[in-house]
Amino acid sequence: MVKKILKIENLKTYFYTWAGIVKAVDGVNIDVNEGETLGLVGESGSGKSVTALSIIRIVPSPGKIVEGKIIYKGENLVEKKEKTLQDIRGKEIAYIFQDPATSLNPVFTIANQLVEVILRHQKISKKEALEKAIELFRLVEIPDPEIKIWNYPHQLSGGMKQRMAIARALASQPNLLIADEPTTNLDVTIQAQILELMKNLKKKLGMSMILITHDMGVVADTADRITVLYAGRVCETADTKTIFYNPKHPYTQALLTAVPSLALKTEKLNVIPGSIPNLIKPPKGCRFHPRCEYAQQICTKKIPELTEIEPGHKVACLRATEINLKSPLGGSNN
Ligand SMILES: Nc1ncnc2c1ncn2[C@@H]1O[C@H](COP(=O)(O)OP(=O)(O)OP(=O)(O)O)[C@@H](O)[C@H]1O
Ligand code: SF4
Ligand SMILES: [Mg+2]
Repeated sequence: MVKKILKIENLKTYFYTWAGIVKAVDGVNIDVNEGETLGLVGESGSGKSVTALSIIRIVPSPGKIVEGKIIYKGENLVEKKEKTLQDIRGKEIAYIFQDPATSLNPVFTIANQLVEVILRHQKISKKEALEKAIELFRLVEIPDPEIKIWNYPHQLSGGMKQRMAIARALASQPNLLIADEPTTNLDVTIQAQILELMKNLKKKLGMSMILITHDMGVVADTADRITVLYAGRVCETADTKTIFYNPKHPYTQALLTAVPSLALKTEKLNVIPGSIPNLIKPPKGCRFHPRCEYAQQICTKKIPELTEIEPGHKVACLRATEINLKSPLGGSNN
């Protein structure tokens, strides 16, 4: 039987701002199975980072988890004391931040920073920690690790910095790695190399991973399953092949037609009309209805529940079974 390492149930994380309550994450359900990579996909502002930050409870103020459970290895992290969370962060669950520069200290060498993380988690000598740091550099395929490790962050290229951020996250041998847009600011070739590296590392180290991205192209070849978020809610979740060839939510389909590499196949690159709604006063009913070409009167009133329509395939669309969506890859609902 498939074992779940993480189960998020009805998570609500709101920001209490002067302008009103931003319902950034509003009833999200996500499962991560042991040893798998889950792709968490959605446009900018859909709540990907806030969901991920909620998992290790580092949502910045004025944000707060107001409801829901985050079950990690059978324990609800929402109820845990800060001390317990400190032990879990980094050691059990590691995080690669959206902007790698934020996790690197510019005034210390990389050796210094890696050794510090290693010593925090393992009782070994400084010399042994340095050896381990060099080993990690080798693991993330940084050439001349014995030399490069004495660099300062600014001396590394964007791709190398990202490899360093991965090495740092792996230093504690985590069971779950959360990578928030790990390739966004890199050019296409380097992006492909980093994704390949992450895929190999996951296999080699047997960990689970949540890969966050706004680009379906990034998860196509990397994720085992995909969860699509829109305006703080889950639209659809299924294995990667089903999402790509048999999407049942109009937003998933729209995201697919917005991927340049997939659009090449259809010679039509779609831009999803409109934008993510204001999350202080989101649209009633289905939050996607103002942008959905299949919307009907009912969609403006009734909130679609996330419903399992076939084993492992869940959709939150009131019309999922009656509309016939076409995937740009050629699949359809039939
Ligand atoms: N500190 C904050 N104060 C108020 N609102 C916030 C704060 N941080 C995030 N939000 C809001 O929460 C919502 C979700 O943001 P989040 O950062 O999770 O989006 P995202 O899917 O990660 O987007 P991106 O692809 O741009 O990283 C957005 O509407 C955002 O404006
Ligand atoms: S519920 Fe209605 S508006 Fe929402 S995605 Fe389905 S068809 Fe579109
Ligand atoms: Mg983000």
